[in-house]
Amino acid sequence: MKKHVKIFALTGLLLFGYACSSDSNNYEPVPDPDEQSPAPNPEPEPEPILELDAIPSSAQRIGDVVKGYDFLINGNYMSSGVPYQAFVQGSGEDNTNVLERSGDNANIAYEYTAVDAANGVRIVSPNCMSCHAGFINNEFVVGLGNHAADFTINRADNIGLVSTGISLLYGGPNSDEWAAYNQFRKSIEAIGPKTLTKTRGANPADKITRVLAAHRDKNSLEWTDTPNVNVSDEVIPTDVPAWWLLKKKNAMFYHAIGRKDFCKSFIGSALLTLDDKTKAEELDTKMPDILAYIYSLEAPSYPFEIDDDRAAQGKPIFEENCVKCHGSYGDDESYPNLLVSLKTIGTDPALSDLYTTPSNVNDYFLDWFNTGWFGTGSAGLEFNAEGGYLAPPLDGVWATAPYFHNGSVATIAQVLDSSTRPKYWSRSFNSTDYDKENLGWNYTEEVFKTDKETYDTTLKGYGNGGHIFGDKLTNEQRLALLEYLKTL
Ligand code: HEC
Ligand code: HEC
Repeated sequence: MKKHVKIFALTGLLLFGYACSSDSNNYEPVPDPDEQSPAPNPEPEPEPILELDAIPSSAQRIGDVVKGYDFLINGNYMSSGVPYQAFVQGSGEDNTNVLERSGDNANIAYEYTAVDAANGVRIVSPNCMSCHAGFINNEFVVGLGNHAADFTINRADNIGLVSTGISLLYGGPNSDEWAAYNQFRKSIEAIGPKTLTKTRGANPADKITRVLAAHRDKNSLEWTDTPNVNVSDEVIPTDVPAWWLLKKKNAMFYHAIGRKDFCKSFIGSALLTLDDKTKAEELDTKMPDILAYIYSLEAPSYPFEIDDDRAAQGKPIFEENCVKCHGSYGDDESYPNLLVSLKTIGTDPALSDLYTTPSNVNDYFLDWFNTGWFGTGSAGLEFNAEGGYLAPPLDGVWATAPYFHNGSVATIAQVLDSSTRPKYWSRSFNSTDYDKENLGWNYTEEVFKTDKETYDTTLKGYGNGGHIFGDKLTNEQRLALLEYLKTL
């Protein structure tokens, strides 16, 4: 049976927090290198301003693929959560078992894992798949970003009820069950009001990390109820990148701030529930297995028909207009790992600005990650915010709508023709509502923002401008290019 019965409303509450990205900055005002010299002999067609910076690679700790998958779907990277019986009573059983897990995990949705807390109580907490798995044309794909999660709901709204329920069920706040639940409660109360997005599908993971770090000591990772720095309520949304792209990337995240040891950053998700750095150190030995699994993932193939002749016509168009940033595919595969300046890309600047604009909060985070437990030790993570966005690899790009770092564009056809992007649009969030012609989601243009399903591109961080590299193409060329993109 699907979940529906609710003793206390757990729905939406648990989809948790964060994980992966985080914060930092680099306060140096960015000079304008494009102002250097007006071309002495102006070309008939002036080149667009190109500011591209290749991101260097760094050594990674890579473990065992099979162990990594097992740890990802069954592992105890969360230490606190809702006691198992209370969870099942509150949210109902879900026997769809798309991950084909065994034991009590077979009876809960794929976004959650049941594990033993340190005191032996069986608890349920959200796992990485709550953001990093999803459906496309009814096909469940681990590693596909969850494009439908609803973070417009304040997860703290129901926590009082949940807490009362747990307290009653297990005999008050002195029970072991309460002890196993308490950190989860505190974290949800802290992040709930500060991580609300304006549209379903938009993800606040960056912000969740900020809030959790504000409540923890950078070295011991111990929790404090009063935050060390005041984090505002503003949320700059992101999309969730597909995991199969990571093996080509030298930096994590759309804004490419995640450098050096990727494994460390995965432990960011454990900040929701861990006690202190003892747990982080235990997880540090497991994360190389998860990285090995992520590196083993391949993009899903386009499941519908491809017109081979037309795709062949699209290849040279791609080579001429796109390869320099997105790399080449097939036998002569290459990927340049370019960080593209805001000026060149022109997409919504708010996410990049969040990390490069000096502020108390940025100061705190740069220091928290780079000089605390995460940034030091034999393998350290480094957050390095240079501004701009990474030109992502396009493997399996047909499957990862909506597009751009904020998910502001419904189809690839619109990525390639900026004049067709609607100001307000909504979609059904049904994974079969796929547009084979334009590659992406079927959508409805709206005249204003009516509900949380409407994407409003006038909001800060939600803009859909920029990336005009396809605008100059003819319709015929664009169709050929779209056909070619299906083959990646
Ligand atoms: C609350 C949702 C959420 C959860 C839970 C979550 N992530 Fe993420 N993850 C994101 C988002 C959103 C991004 C992109 C953030 C950005 O680019 O600013 C991301 C980025 C990443 C990336 C970088 C991908 C790339 O190509 O840059 C990796 C790898 C990753 N997450 C792994 C994990 C692992 C492993 C876990 C579990 C331990 C996890 N994540 C849990 C939302 C989540
Ligand atoms: C100057 C570098 C550059 C050129 C040239 C370029 N792109 Fe991009 N592209 C980017 C960057 C950077 C992004 C990420 C922008 C963002 O997320 O805000 C991007 C994003 C995209 C996306 C969305 C990916 C996603 O998952 O959200 C697609 C699709 C895409 N480009 C296709 C193309 C095609 C096709 C061409 C050739 C017509 C092209 N690009 C030319 C830099 C470039």
